[in-house]
Amino acid sequence: MAKTKFLISRYNAARDPKPYLQEFRLEIPQGATLLDCINLIKWTQDGTLTYRMSCRSAICGSCSMKVNGHARLACKTQAAEAVIDGAITIEPMGNSPLIRDLAVDLEPFFDSIDRVKPYLVPDDSKQWKRETLQSHDDYRKIEDASTCILCAACWSDCNVLEVDPRFLGPAALAKAQRFVYDSRDSDTANRIEYLSRVTGMWDCTHCAECATRCPTDAKPLFRIKELRTAAMTHKVTNNNGARHVLAFRESVGGLVPGIGGGMLNENYIPVRSVGFFNLDGILSIIPVGIRMFIRGKNPPILPHIIDKFGEVRAMFRRFNDYRKEYRK
Ligand code: SF4
Ligand code: SF4
Ligand code: FES
Repeated sequence: MAKTKFLISRYNAARDPKPYLQEFRLEIPQGATLLDCINLIKWTQDGTLTYRMSCRSAICGSCSMKVNGHARLACKTQAAEAVIDGAITIEPMGNSPLIRDLAVDLEPFFDSIDRVKPYLVPDDSKQWKRETLQSHDDYRKIEDASTCILCAACWSDCNVLEVDPRFLGPAALAKAQRFVYDSRDSDTANRIEYLSRVTGMWDCTHCAECATRCPTDAKPLFRIKELRTAAMTHKVTNNNGARHVLAFRESVGGLVPGIGGGMLNENYIPVRSVGFFNLDGILSIIPVGIRMFIRGKNPPILPHIIDKFGEVRAMFRRFNDYRKEYRK
């Protein structure tokens, strides 16, 4: 059988000015995972190759690395399926300081988890006499987030973290959902307030990378959506993110007289999002408005109502009925 080209990122701060790809050749044994192949390369070709691994069973979360540009668990990836044009490119995870070869510093990742208080805050006013029981239905609300194995694959590929390292990140937000929705926790309101600040749940752009990369059911994007639902339910809306969502709803649903209906009113949304009485916020968006005006990109001043607005209204009504039903 032909040998496959493994292009593996190498870096040793004591020797290399920057990371580079080193080529190895290996015949992929039948059924081998990528981690099996990397181990073979280390054991038979270069013992200095550095990476993390432990369980080899997709449980411990140690072996995340970028495979052909995207984060994956090496022990959960069939090597033969990762070959593209005769090669597999393996690099360290993104959004993390590089230590050596494929090993990155996970301190920032674990710090992000610490920031969301990843533990239950029990209600001390209750005199617990025995374990705190949970119904099956209550457990189902936190079951998916509970499957996170802290592999940091979502953190590695998050597009927001790439531009703003202060962002809490997908794993921490998924972890937060697990406690916000936990029937035994007594700190829900404080948690939602904290998660609604800048760098929290509203900074996610819905790119879906985290949900695509996550090897478990934790799928952070969906947990972030649940956090946003909780924020709306608890009426924590005094922030740009929540106001932005409300502005979309009001604009498309035609819920505020004079702002149109069935489509986005691009004049209304930015002002509603920063807050009508937030002078600093409004001043901050004026330069963008001026640039749009100079380039002729301003939407019409008079709002427009689309022809089939009745159909949009019907959808909104149906959605509201569904919401009431769902909350019963
Ligand atoms: S969906 Fe949000 S949290 Fe997930 S990777 Fe994209 S920006 Fe990051
Ligand atoms: S949410 Fe998924 S991808 Fe992110 S750390 Fe947990 S298991 Fe890994
Ligand atoms: S070695 Fe534990 S998840 Fe891959």
